[in-house]
Order: sequence, then C-alpha cells, then structure tokens
Amino acid sequence: MTSQKTTKYRKDYQAPAFSIDKVDLTFDIGETLTRVHARLVMRALGAAGQTLRLDGSAKLISLTLDGERLDATRYRQGEECLEIDAVPDGFILEVETEIDPAANTSLMGLYASGGNLFTQCEPEGFRKITYSLDRPDVMSKFTTTIIADKQTFPVLLSNGNKVGEGMTDKKRHWVKWVDPYKKPAYLFALVAGKLSALKDSFVTRSGRKVALEIWTEPADLDKSQHAMASLNKSMRWDETRFGLEYDLDIYMIVAVGDFNMGAMENKGLNIFNTKYVLARQDTATDADFDGVESVIGHEYFHNWTGNRVTCRDWFQLSLKEGLTVFRDQEFSADMGSRAVKRIEDVKALRALQFPEDAGPTAHPIRPDAYIEMNNFYTMTVYEKGAEVVRMYHTLLGEEGFQKGMALYFKRHDGQAVTCDDFRAAMADANGVDLTQFALWYSQAGTPLLKVALEHDAVRAEVVLTIEQSVPPTPGQTDKQPLHIPFAMALIGRDGKPLPLVLEGEAPGDGSDAGSVSRVLEVRRAREVFRFGGIAHKPVPSLLRGFSAPVRLDYDWRDDELAFLMAHDGDTFSRWEASQELARRILMRAVADLAADRQRVLSQTFVDAVGAVLANQRLDPAFRALMLTLPSEADLIELIDAADPALICRARLGVLNELAQQLRGQWREAFDLNQTRGAEVADAGKRALKNVALAMLCRLPDVWPLEGARKQYETADNMTDTMGSLNALRDRGCDAREHCLADFARRWQHDALVMDKYFTLVAASHLPDTLAAVEAALVHPAFSLKNPNKARSLLGTFGRNVAAFHAADGAGYRFLADQVLAIDAFNPQVASRLVQAFNRWRRIEPVRGALMQGELKRILAHQGLSADVYEIVSKNLEA
Ligand code: TRP
Ligand code: ZN
Repeated sequence: MTSQKTTKYRKDYQAPAFSIDKVDLTFDIGETLTRVHARLVMRALGAAGQTLRLDGSAKLISLTLDGERLDATRYRQGEECLEIDAVPDGFILEVETEIDPAANTSLMGLYASGGNLFTQCEPEGFRKITYSLDRPDVMSKFTTTIIADKQTFPVLLSNGNKVGEGMTDKKRHWVKWVDPYKKPAYLFALVAGKLSALKDSFVTRSGRKVALEIWTEPADLDKSQHAMASLNKSMRWDETRFGLEYDLDIYMIVAVGDFNMGAMENKGLNIFNTKYVLARQDTATDADFDGVESVIGHEYFHNWTGNRVTCRDWFQLSLKEGLTVFRDQEFSADMGSRAVKRIEDVKALRALQFPEDAGPTAHPIRPDAYIEMNNFYTMTVYEKGAEVVRMYHTLLGEEGFQKGMALYFKRHDGQAVTCDDFRAAMADANGVDLTQFALWYSQAGTPLLKVALEHDAVRAEVVLTIEQSVPPTPGQTDKQPLHIPFAMALIGRDGKPLPLVLEGEAPGDGSDAGSVSRVLEVRRAREVFRFGGIAHKPVPSLLRGFSAPVRLDYDWRDDELAFLMAHDGDTFSRWEASQELARRILMRAVADLAADRQRVLSQTFVDAVGAVLANQRLDPAFRALMLTLPSEADLIELIDAADPALICRARLGVLNELAQQLRGQWREAFDLNQTRGAEVADAGKRALKNVALAMLCRLPDVWPLEGARKQYETADNMTDTMGSLNALRDRGCDAREHCLADFARRWQHDALVMDKYFTLVAASHLPDTLAAVEAALVHPAFSLKNPNKARSLLGTFGRNVAAFHAADGAGYRFLADQVLAIDAFNPQVASRLVQAFNRWRRIEPVRGALMQGELKRILAHQGLSADVYEIVSKNLEA
C-alpha cells in the first residue's frame, strides 16, 4: 500500500520525457504468484542521455536494457518509482515482476475474486503490475500473452483481438491478444478464470460485424440478457445520435463481484461490477434495470469519449467523465422518459453533489490539486461535469453541439487532451466566444441566483432581475460571475405561458422574440431583463429543465407553487414546484417543533398533493416523483446547526398527516396501479403504487401492514418485493420481521439481493438499527472485504439521518471503527465511507463535536492511507 501524502498540482504538468511505442506483456499465472514480463519499446522525446523515471511498485525480479541485464547499481528504486540514468535515445526495456493477486485486497492492479483474476488500472493501478510510464498521455500499442493452467483458468481475456492460442504443455495453455489502437496504461485489462459467456453480434452502420460477449460466473448466465440488450441499444444509439461507430471486431464485458466502483471502460474489455450487469425480474428492481442500461451505455460511450480521445493528465478527468455522463444521460432519456430521467439526475446532483460543493472536499470539476487521485472520482467531476457539458448543449443547441463534437474528434482522435481543448472545439465549431464559460472549470461552489420579478401594470411590463454569486470554497475566496444559460417562462392566469418579447426585440427579427420559453444568457453579477406586452402579473417558471447547476432563490407564494404544480408546461419546473412547496412546509414544521408550536398542515399543500395524486392524465412515474418529499439530508443542507432528531420528527409528522388526510386517495392510487409481471411500460405504475403503499403504512391501522405483507408474498418481481419491504422498514411489527427474515433466507445465496437486505437493515429508522447493523456484520452472507457489501450496510448507515446521528455518538463511533478496519485493506472504499462525516459543521454543536472527535481519532490512527488522510484532514481544516 502506498501512503505517500504529497500533493500533486495541475500547474506542475510537464509533457512526458519518453514515449513507449509498444508494450508487449506476458502474464505467467502460477498457482499463487503471477510473473509479468513487460517489453517496452521506448524513445526519448527530449535531449539524449536523460534519466528515465518509471512508475511501479510491484516486486522487481529483473531489468534488461537493450538485452543487457541491469544490476542494482544501475538503477534506484523509490516507494513507487524506479530510475535509470543516462538511457539511450531509443531502447528496449524488459521488466520482470512478480505479483500476488490473491493477497491484493485493494482491488487495484491484478487481483483475485471468487477464484478468478481481474485487473483494475484506472487511474494508477498499472504500476502495481509492472514498471512503465503510468500516465494517460503516454499511449502505446499493447499485445498481451497469458499463460495459465487450463483447468483453473479456461478463459483468458485481454484488450483487442485474439490472434492465437495453444498449449505450452499438457496442462497449461496460452492465448495472445493484440490491441491495434494506441492506449494509455489505465485502459489495459486482463481477465482469467472460469467464466461463461452470453454471445451476440452487432452489425455496424457501415456493415461490419462485431462479436459481443458478456462473461459472468456460469450460474449468473441467465441474468445477462438485459445487459446484452442494453449494449445493442448503446451501439445503435451512438451511431444515430452522435454518428460514432465501434472500431474493433469484438466487444467484451466481464462481471465481477468484488469491484471498487461501478464499471471500467478498458478498451474492448469492459470490467463491470456485477450490480451493473446482472438483472432478472425476480432479483432486480426497475431502478436496477435502468442502472444496468445506463452504465452499459456509459462504458460503451467511453470508447470514443475517453479511449479514442483521452485525458492529458488526471486533473482533466471531467473531460471524459463529464462528457460521458452527459452522453449516458441523453441515451437513457432517449430510451425512456426524458422528463423522469432529467428529474432523477437533478435529484441525485442536488442530494450528493451540492453538499460536496458546499463542504470540506469542494473542488472545481477540473481540480487544481490532489493527494490521492482515487478521491477525485467524485459527484463534482462526473455529475456537475455532465451539467457543464449540458450547458454547451443548451447554449448551442443539438446541431451546434454536434458540430463541436465533430470538430473535437477531427482535431483530437488518438490524442490525450485537456478540458480547454474540448471548450475550444465547441467555440470554434460554432464561432462563439466561450472565454467566460471557462470559469465553470476553475471555480468550485454552487452559484446562487437571486431572482426578483416586478410587474408594471401601466407599462404592461415585467422586469426580471437576476443576481448571481458563487460562495467561497476551501482555497477559493474570490469568485467571478459565470456565463449561465437560464431557461424561463412566464405563466399567465389561464395557466398558459405568455409570448416573451424582450425590450428592443420584435417578433420575426431573428431573435427568439415571441417564443413562450426562452434561454436568457446571464453573464454579469446583475442582469435585468424587460419583457413587454404583459398586462397581468404572471407566475414565473424559472431555471426550466434545470438549465444550469445552480441554486435558485425566488420568493414564490405557496399558492403560486401550487399553481405551477398544476400548470407548468416544463416537466422539470413542474416537479420542482412540488419540491419547493414541500421544502417550505417541512422547514416550517421543523421551526414549529423547535419552538413547541402547533400548526395544522397547510391546506394549499394538502390540496396540491391531492390534485397530483388524482391527476390520471399525468404519467404515474412522474406523479411518484412529485409525491416524494425532500429527504432529511436535504433539510440538513437548508438548516444551520441542524438537529437531526428534530428534522426526522418534523418530517415524519408532515408525512403522517399527509397520509392521514389523503388516506382515501392513497388507497385509490394503490388499488388503481396494481400490475402483474415486470413490463417496462408498467414501471411507473409500480413506482406510484409503492409510494402509495409506503404512505398507507404510516397510518396507525393494521390493514396496510397486512397489505404490504400480502404484496411481499404475492410479488412476481423485485420492485414489488422491495416496495413492500421498504414500506415496512420503519414499522416495528410482525409483518416486517416475517418478511425480512423470509427475504434473507430465500436469497441467502444471491449476493446482489443480499445487498438489498443489508441496505434495508441499515436504512431503518427503528431505534435498534445500530444493533441490527452490528449483528449484520457477522451474518454469513456479509463480508467487509466485499465493496458492495460494505457500501450496502455501512454506506447506507452513514446516510441514515436517524441512526447515524444518534445523540450519544454511538453511530459516529461505530462508523469510524469500521472505516479504520476497512482502511487497512481497501483505502478506496474506506475513503468513500468516511465522507459520511463531511457535513459535521452543519450539525448542531453537541453532535458536531462528537463527529469532530471521531475525525480526529481517525486522523491520529497509525498507518492511515493517503486516501482517508486526504478526506479527513480536509474535514478538520479551519
Ligand atoms: N472510469 C470508470 C468510469 O467512470 C470508473 C473508474 C475509475 C473506476 N477508477 C476506477 C472503476 C477504479 C473501478 C475502479 O466508467
Ligand atoms: Zn466513466
């Protein structure tokens, strides 16, 4: 394990001093140890006689330069590097290393999972395999030969095309792979083991036939059809929407149960967390099916945005990730409901990225410094990065955006480039100035837009004033105004949007004058827009489609929000009105509870919710989203010195009252949306029905609990099974105990379903949750070493506002202990889990001090990884 805690800076970038034109790898897989022979064809790019500095940490067996064996006097080894002085201009370096995959618990480099071998090289895992230039701007052609026992490792895979295979003796076989495309080391992959493939093929639009293979454990083969269908859709979509065709003869996906993240786009050989491959009606929910489709798409789309054009250095990560997330979001939107997809994406951004951008680890989408790169695969780089790409699309339109993409590929195919190169392609292809737009890459923090609307009845004019500010973030105090696309409409009394004509415009003059929805370009700290010909004061519909990743402050009245909930033609803004109204109701409930005041639930709110529930013309999936109230964590972001217990009680009070007052309607929604099977077309009905069921289970009655139990017992798909278990999760009752125990027994041998069980245990608001989580740690199906298990149980616990924030600090102590235990073998996972403490400064002082105490205890721990050190030290900085 590396534990150097030095900071790397973006400004220190230097071009590589050497290139590696060719990498020939031979993996000799033994019973326990693996020998790796690497033959690197290298060239000096600068002056002759330089020192060669290689990245590597594997056990070095031998080193040969142009056929001459180098003894220890000819090179120096550091913690993660090796130096050779005065190398020639062009030379061949041969490196032999020995690695122990079974002992590799970090899941970076070559590691074992379930008896099979897998690699994970992004960002800096290749150096755990051999010595080379492990940086994305050094791109080489790779060949890979794998030798292993045929019984134990019948399947041997690597990047590119298979060019040969045979036996080396009676027991051992070999396979050779050649990847014709140059690539950086982080895209290298190897898989060896006992696996089975689902096979299919795809004919590209130019008529080439591509073999498709999805490799899983033999027992899981019947769960990969959806992944295969998703792959076919991804390949077709990238051709039709982006004009991008696949470039190899084979595309392979391998599923592995032990994986640090979601999936990895290795050239021609994606490696996936089983969670994003395996899905069968009885084991996966509708959301799981969507997750598979979106991650399959994401990794496939990386073939162009990531692999053909890659990052110059890791500070540019958002170049490939922000763009590829944008592409996968658009793919999902085109495959299903665009409205629902947009709302889900914004929900995730706000729940996870906004707090990051407001907390101790805030960073720009293109960071300036890092200690451990693994810590920068963040919601900011990925999701805010995708919003930044979406803003180009909003500003330039689909056609302009595609022109920019075309120029980007024309200029940079086969290169390792920067975020500035992407921005330049967008600007140059469209002849626009995107200089100010660069600030989105360099400034951290979520901008705040304060909007005011004045109506002048005499002049029949609406004056919209927009003031923007970007909050200070760690290390960045001075912020400049950003270039922000701001989509808006003005809704008239009849619920219809009004034609918008700005001062100085005339309809038909080539501007957007007269259209009912417009994208205003906000550039200065304060902008004033005047709309003429508006007789009555309208209700503004603002930040339509969430046209920029900002916070919005506009002082709607409750009845105006209810009006937008009923009339806004922009689905995002219509949903947002429901959330804004609910936020206000919940905030008042928290304030009332804190002051010991009684208040009945606002009739405006109850009626507005009732109207959504009853509106059969609205897509049920959309209604389900409108009927889901902001979470406890959302409220913590809105309330200073937040008291988690008070927030939980207040929110529960509002939900219980809403359940009670609309009980007939919840019942009706539950009954009207019953379906059988797992048809995609019925997913919205299942979602709405399960929201209704959860509301009904809040009533003091017994019948809903029995209803949930009945649904559990008769469910023929996992969405309904989970719908009933979620509804029962916080209710201490026989039905809950019966169903949960049955679930754990029935699925004890299915790892991914057991993850759901551990999630349910850890998400409960029942008072004994900590004890239940501690008990789950020793459940036979649990393993701390498996990242999916650790995340299901401990990640969920850290987000459980009721249990994690127990007043006595027991939740904090427990999680800190687990973080330290995991850090000893997998720093990447530990570093994610410890971020449950990130918001400690927002919590009321007593609990805040307990959280701070745990952070200090972690920081003082001997042998702490660089990963956890970086996060915790940022948490404790002033
Ligand atoms: N590049 C991958 C993706 O976004 C994610 C990734 C980066 C990753 N580092 C990783 C996956 C380490 C697993 C382990 O698609
Ligand atoms: Zn990615």
